This record gives sequence, structure tokens and C-alpha cells, in this order.
Amino acid sequence: MPREASGRMIKEKGSLVVVGTGIRTVGQLTGDTIARLKTSTKVFYIIADLVGEQVIKQIQPAAESLGRFYRLGRNRREAYDAMVERIMSAVRDGHRTCCAAYGHPGVFAFPTHEAIRRARAEGFEATMYPAVSAEDCLFADLGVDPANPGCNSHEATRFVLYKKAVDPSSGLILWQVGMFGDATYRPEGNRGQWIHVLVDRLLQHYPEDHQVTLYEAAVFINCPPRIERIALGKLADAELTPATTLYVPPARGDVLDEETCAALGIERAALAR
Ligand SMILES: C[S@@+](CC[C@H](N)C(=O)[O-])C[C@H]1O[C@@H](n2cnc3c(N)ncnc32)[C@H](O)[C@@H]1O
Repeated sequence: MPREASGRMIKEKGSLVVVGTGIRTVGQLTGDTIARLKTSTKVFYIIADLVGEQVIKQIQPAAESLGRFYRLGRNRREAYDAMVERIMSAVRDGHRTCCAAYGHPGVFAFPTHEAIRRARAEGFEATMYPAVSAEDCLFADLGVDPANPGCNSHEATRFVLYKKAVDPSSGLILWQVGMFGDATYRPEGNRGQWIHVLVDRLLQHYPEDHQVTLYEAAVFINCPPRIERIALGKLADAELTPATTLYVPPARGDVLDEETCAALGIERAALAR
């Protein structure tokens, strides 16, 4: 800690950086992120796999897991609030604080966004850095381009509860299907207890034999991803884990608005297929 001329310790103003490890930490952890982990005086992490945890610990042996705030069967929101409070206590204490989350730290990650909001509201510098998310891996592994024919991405339970609009001419990515209908913490997921509710909703827009993909990006080096195609009508029988993301491909093609296309002077051939 720096000192004044009188010798009195000067408490540094705390700050917060939020970084992501990528899905496969070995390989997807960027040099920039490693530098931020190394130069922070307090590091927290929310990592789902042991290898990722070991990598963080090698860079910062004193790094602290925020996973301990999860309580079996308790609402995940309670754990998130406790995580944010723990991060903020270090920032308020004057630490150059870093919080590392797996994947992209701002993708389906309430506590990281909330910590940034809270730190800024209290007058601290706070920055989030992007990283490789499960969705980025899905685009690569499944050969899906969100630009064409378009793609919607939703948390599966919210998708049903808020009656989100469905566009069968675009792809649909549903996150957290392995804990569908459950707001509590269960490390093994809820084994698809309520998944039939999601299936019923999807069947209003897609045929029963529509092929959907259960996707799990590889977390470890030299391991293949899980890419399992099944009929939508059979989804209730599938094995779902906390890492499963569901991809529903389009069920029909796009319909071109010929009039607007002509008004814009765009040639049909110039449109990407
Ligand atoms: C709380 S979110 C965390 C997402 C993470 N921040 C990211 O950037 O991908 C957890 C959900 O992400 C998805 N997910 C996590 N790991 C995954 C993996 N290895 N493959 C595919 N999806 C994954 C699943 O839908 C899972 O339920």
C-alpha cells in the first residue's frame, strides 16, 4: 500500500474488472485476461469445471471461489446477491478486484452485470471484457450463422414464462434447458422434470418430427462436443445436463418482401443465401 510523506498508509481506490475464461479455459483464456488476473490484488471466480479452476489458481493461488454461496435447493438469486456483496466488499476495501466467470462473463450471468452496475453506482471504475461464450462455440460447431436466416436466443424458462415470440423462419437457441422450470441451485440440473412444458410450447410452432440439437461445447482439450440430434417430440426422453443448450433450427424458409427489395434497388442475386 502506498504511503503519504508523513508515512501514513494511503488506501487506494478500489476498482473492478470482470473477465471470462471462455468455455474451454485451456485455449480460450486470452493473454489480456491472464494479465488482468495477474495484476489484480483480489481475484474471485465462478467456474463450472475443475480444469478451469486449476488454471485460475495457477495464475492467482489466492483466488477465491464464489461457488460456495450456492446452497442446494435454495433460490439461485440469493446466491447471486451474496456473490455481488462479496465482490463489492473487496472493491470498497480498495482492492484492484477481478472477477472471472466461465464463458463470456456477461452472457447469462446476473452477478457479473450486477457487480459492474453496483460498483459504478458507488463511484468505482468498473469494466467488463468479452470472452468466448457457449453460443460462440455453438455457431462454430453446428455451422450456424446468426446473420442468415437469423437467430433468437433465450433463457428457456423465461422463454415460456414470458411467452416470447417464436419465429420459425429463424434459428432458436434455448439456454439452461437442463434446469428448465427450476429457480433453485441443483448442480446436476433437475433432469428435465418440467421439460414437457417447454416441448408443448415449441410444438405450437414446430412439427413433432422437427430435428433439434442438444449441444454441449467441449470443455476439455481433445474432447469432442456433444451434438445430439433428436426429434422435438422425443425431447422429454433426452438426457439434459446443466451444460446443455438446445438449438432449434428454422422450420421454414424466409419470405422475401419483393416490393421493399425492388424499392431499395437490391438484386435478388445479391442477397446472401
Ligand atoms: C449460467 S449460463 C452461463 C453461460 C456462460 N456465461 C457463457 O458465456 O456461455 C449456463 C448455461 O450456459 C450454457 N452452457 C454452459 N456451458 C456450456 C457448454 N459447455 N456447452 C453448451 N452450453 C453451455 C447452458 O445453456 C447452461 O445452462
